[in-house]
Amino acid sequence: MQITKVTAVFFSPTGNARKIVTAFAEAAAAELGVGMESFDYTLPGDREEIKSFGPADLVIFGTPVYAGRIPNKTLPYVQSGFEGNGALAVPVVVFGNRNFDNGLIELRNELEAHGFHTIAGAGIPTEHVFDSSLATGRPDEADMAAIVEFARKAAKKAAEMDTIPSPVAVRGDDPVGPYYTPLGTDGKPAVFLKAKPKTDTGTCTGCGACAKVCPMGSIPAEAPDTCTGVCIKCQACIKTCPAGAKYFDDAAFLSHVEMLKQNYTRRSEAEWFL
Ligand SMILES: Cc1cc2nc3c(=O)[nH]c(=O)nc-3n(C[C@H](O)[C@H](O)[C@H](O)COP(=O)(O)O)c2cc1C
Repeated sequence: MQITKVTAVFFSPTGNARKIVTAFAEAAAAELGVGMESFDYTLPGDREEIKSFGPADLVIFGTPVYAGRIPNKTLPYVQSGFEGNGALAVPVVVFGNRNFDNGLIELRNELEAHGFHTIAGAGIPTEHVFDSSLATGRPDEADMAAIVEFARKAAKKAAEMDTIPSPVAVRGDDPVGPYYTPLGTDGKPAVFLKAKPKTDTGTCTGCGACAKVCPMGSIPAEAPDTCTGVCIKCQACIKTCPAGAKYFDDAAFLSHVEMLKQNYTRRSEAEWFL
């Protein structure tokens, strides 16, 4: 295929998906000798337009896995905001060292359902936003080198291909199964869907940095010590707050994090599909 542009598309509240998808797209674009663009759909205002591609596009599409799948609050936009029109695509999921479960196959299926032809895919471990003891510091140097190497192979495949390929085979259940149920340290489901970040009002300076990064637009700029809408637990507000004033104290959420720390600190490896 004659590819004339590579686009990095990503949802990335705390930056891991952005880092990986951008490095992937840069390496693919360099391999093909073409330009690269980015489309970030993390913030609510970025999820209004319909993004259209065509047969000369290679799209590297990435998202973190939440509860073993595409984050459910972003799924409607993944399903309605993109038109492939025959573009080639690489679904990429990042995950916090537990498992990407059905996240990659779900993303592959959504891209195929919306006019993209998937030619490669990857599930890549990255530091878990809930606790830095899971995949600490990842992606590391070895991860980044592996991403560049794989991106070159995917780009070569795109350039050499002369017929429309079958969807790339990736790990996961098809049809896609239910969301992973987070467990607590007692092995029982940890129900924290309604948990929201709290604010230490003595520490909060009211700067509003958290309001600017909330992917759900749930933190009002005029009252950043509150959370008035849906919270997806992405931790963007917590990681962004310069004063360290945001925190979660929901017992079920903390129990789930503890369970992850007890069971998922081993090194997990990326999985590549070509
Ligand atoms: C609500 C939520 C659910 C998550 N579920 C999983 C999961 O099922 N498996 C896993 O390995 N990591 C899981 N993670 C970890 C993220 O996939 C990981 O930290 C990722 O790097 C975050 O990407 P970002 O930096 O682009 O926001 C979850 C994170 C959040 C916020």
